[in-house]
Amino acid sequence: MEEFTVATNATAIVSSKASIGLNVNIGDFTIIFDNVVIGDNVSIQSHCLIGQPTPLSNGEPLIIGNDSLIRSHSVFYEGSQFGSKLMTGHRVTVREKIEAGENLMIGTHCDLQGHTKIGDYVRLYTGAQINHASNIGDFVRIYHYSVLTNDPNPPSNIVLGVKVNKFAVIATMCCILPGIQIGENALVGAGSLVRKDVEPETVVAGVPAKYICRTSDIVLKDGSNQKAYPWMRHFHRGYPKEITDEWMSIYDN
Ligand SMILES: CC(C)(COP(=O)(O)OP(=O)(O)OC[C@H]1O[C@@H](n2cnc3c(N)ncnc32)[C@H](O)[C@@H]1OP(=O)(O)O)[C@@H](O)C(=O)NCCC(=O)NCCS
Repeated sequence: MEEFTVATNATAIVSSKASIGLNVNIGDFTIIFDNVVIGDNVSIQSHCLIGQPTPLSNGEPLIIGNDSLIRSHSVFYEGSQFGSKLMTGHRVTVREKIEAGENLMIGTHCDLQGHTKIGDYVRLYTGAQINHASNIGDFVRIYHYSVLTNDPNPPSNIVLGVKVNKFAVIATMCCILPGIQIGENALVGAGSLVRKDVEPETVVAGVPAKYICRTSDIVLKDGSNQKAYPWMRHFHRGYPKEITDEWMSIYDN
């Protein structure tokens, strides 16, 4: 371990088989297991399990990209990989066989069950639950306590994952039924039960969810009378300038 700059608190346990980058900080009582690769400039707070062994990983490592922050009491199994700038809230659970891009946010209490593809700049808010075989596109935002399901006849061995296409928004406390596709730039209203595919750039809402309008029909509730969607026109917080500049060049015209 001598060649690494690892600030490890006295109560943390770091396997000598793990590969740890430069400038990595590991909090009290955290365990870094054997089959783990951690990039540079990563902070892992206290009481985390990083690379929890499981036979379901088929021996693949847990890979955490550069410049990541994993907050306290989080559990990551071995066998998943995350690009740079991963950020979690507290107490997240992340299982094996997830392939995620860069700049993923996993909010407090999220539960990612594994075997899932996640694009770049995805935002998962508090308590979101992502089941096996989900496929989440770039810039998707899934809000608090929403669930992507996968078993149409529980309990069964059928796995029909949900696909959420890029820039789509799933508002708070939605349930998306197995095998459903949410179209690009679509919006699922709060508290919806989605049992049919959602067309791109449309708003659906309710139980069961029904077509409400085009996303372009919704106006921001700030008195400005501006269109609320595509949201990339006015909401830039947390995205790098090169990306928001590109959005501005598209939507200013
Ligand atoms: C979908 C949404 C944006 C629509 O808002 P809106 O443009 O103000 O729409 P309105 O409230 O005028 O509703 C239009 C119609 O759709 C229905 N509707 C809207 N949202 C609905 C919802 N979530 N569930 C069921 N029906 C809904 C309304 O009942 C109304 O139908 P009506 O004309 O027959 O009465 C809003 O309901 C929503 O879900 N916002 C997201 C909140 C959220 O979760 N934020 C993220 C976390 S903070």
